[in-house]
Amino acid sequence: MAHKIWLVVFLTTYTALVTSAQISLDWWQTTVFYQVYPRSFKDSDGDGVGDLNGITSKLDHLVDAGIGSVWLSPIYKSPMADFGYDIANFTDVDPIFGNLDDFDKLQSRAKELGLKLILDLVPNHTSNESIWFINSVKKIDPYTDYYVWIDPKYDENGNRVPPTNWLSAFGGSAWEWREERQQYYLHQFVVQQPDLNYENPRVVEEMKNAIRFWLDKGVDGFRVDAVPYLFEDQELRDEPLSGDSSALPTEANYLNHIYTQNLPGTYDMVQQWREVVDQKTAETGESKILMLETYAPLKKVMEYYGTQERPGGQFPFNFVMIEDLNINSTAYDFNTTIHEWMDNMPSWGWPNWVIGNHDQKRVGTRFGPGKIDIMNVISLLLPGSGITYNGDEIGMVDEIISYEDTVDPAGVNAGPDRYQLFSRDPCRTPFQWDNTTSAGFSTSTKTWLPVNPNYLTLNLEAEVEAVTSHYKVYQKAVAVRNFPTIQRGSLKVVPLSEQVLAFSRELEENPPFVVVVNLGDNKENVNLAVDDFENIPNDLVVYLSSVNSKKQQGSAVDKSDLDLDPEEILILTTSRGYICVVHSLLYCCAFKLFM
Ligand code: NOJ
Ligand code: MG
Repeated sequence: MAHKIWLVVFLTTYTALVTSAQISLDWWQTTVFYQVYPRSFKDSDGDGVGDLNGITSKLDHLVDAGIGSVWLSPIYKSPMADFGYDIANFTDVDPIFGNLDDFDKLQSRAKELGLKLILDLVPNHTSNESIWFINSVKKIDPYTDYYVWIDPKYDENGNRVPPTNWLSAFGGSAWEWREERQQYYLHQFVVQQPDLNYENPRVVEEMKNAIRFWLDKGVDGFRVDAVPYLFEDQELRDEPLSGDSSALPTEANYLNHIYTQNLPGTYDMVQQWREVVDQKTAETGESKILMLETYAPLKKVMEYYGTQERPGGQFPFNFVMIEDLNINSTAYDFNTTIHEWMDNMPSWGWPNWVIGNHDQKRVGTRFGPGKIDIMNVISLLLPGSGITYNGDEIGMVDEIISYEDTVDPAGVNAGPDRYQLFSRDPCRTPFQWDNTTSAGFSTSTKTWLPVNPNYLTLNLEAEVEAVTSHYKVYQKAVAVRNFPTIQRGSLKVVPLSEQVLAFSRELEENPPFVVVVNLGDNKENVNLAVDDFENIPNDLVVYLSSVNSKKQQGSAVDKSDLDLDPEEILILTTSRGYICVVHSLLYCCAFKLFM
């Protein structure tokens, strides 16, 4: 009974303090999307590979972290030539991950916990073991033209050569010869990933049906893979050289992909998919979404927002922090990069910030372990949807993997001298849950990729128990996203020196927030009393500080005389804001305890 009374007190205080909690933003705008790489998250059956039941058993962790949405990298039937991105059946689950019943269980547990569920849609290609491709090779209709089949060319000596100079993203020609058909097929990724032919209306319909299948099952949307690659030049023109001197002639960066990427039909296709998901939105009254993987020049990326009348994805992923920033970037570089996205996005567009995924070196490796909190906090407190790659919330870093142990085709194809430039294995090692066998990921000591030996000290359990940890910083940064100021407030970015970056979030009468980070290796003293922050009151207190900070939560700071340790990060708010935040966190705890 006493518990209930306290809960009522908390609830009342919370509602009174957090004034504009009723906001009109949609769920996908305020949420954090958490990317689960299924092979590496949690293995439930001891075969050393993660699976759906494993994920289901760990969904509580997402709730504990404050995350609202989970995106699963592909779980479909696949021979795993590209670890699930080579799909043999778009509407079934691979046995390594479980089956459709396990999927249903995962989905209902997610719903119970209030988590949105996003699947990976891989529309550009299938596996060469898909029945579509097997039939296409044999010219069995209607599959004959499901793929991009082209007659050979012949050189001056009469030797058969591929139709164009196009290169696979994983190295070597993008064309593979098939004796049976006496034709080449296109594969922009590995040989086992034949590109679908989007000039064929049946293919277009097949993919829409795959989307509908999962929407009918109840998923909340899709992350769409490799969007730029959907259409190719019908005149089959050779691509010009890029001039990138670091690329070998067999490597994709050697060419400028003007005939194989971002062709006009691609934008229209995305808009058509949006119509399909919007139909489900209209039917269910709950927004279904598309987030697009579009590595491309910024102007082209922005076009994937579509138009207000005919939108594309809810957003194309924002990779600027991956592409343009690194361990040596200054506060001026961060300022430029943040503006790059905000100033080029359509005025009605919604931002997002990606700092890691299963294709990139981990954020803690690119920026160094000392900047993990900085990157998590910046990406979560800038305006827009949050996106976290599993393991980044506890500060996992890449593991060095030998060529012999390398399994990623991007690494294997590059050969022993250059595999480290391309292999994505290092960022895909098993999630580090605790300090038991295989970091609590699997009961087996043999896992599909080796567990990072640092798991003995770097693991979720240890970080939950510690007074301060990457995870605790992450959790608090996510929690503060519930505030209207962070959800809808204005943004002002101010590089205070070469090393110190600050940005403010302000919204009418709501408590403001100021994030201050020292990117450098030296102590700094800064003055926040600058024109851009003139409306920020002087009575600032620390809401959150990084693991390496000596400043206590709740302690006051002097706005015009702020000392920062190397790589220190502070989230500051007013004393009134602080009371709000603390009460809202108490409310959350009470809620978890009693509900
Ligand atoms: C992008 C995915 O993120 C990557 O992992 C995959 O290899 C390619 N697309 C091909 O599907
Ligand atoms: Mg398993």
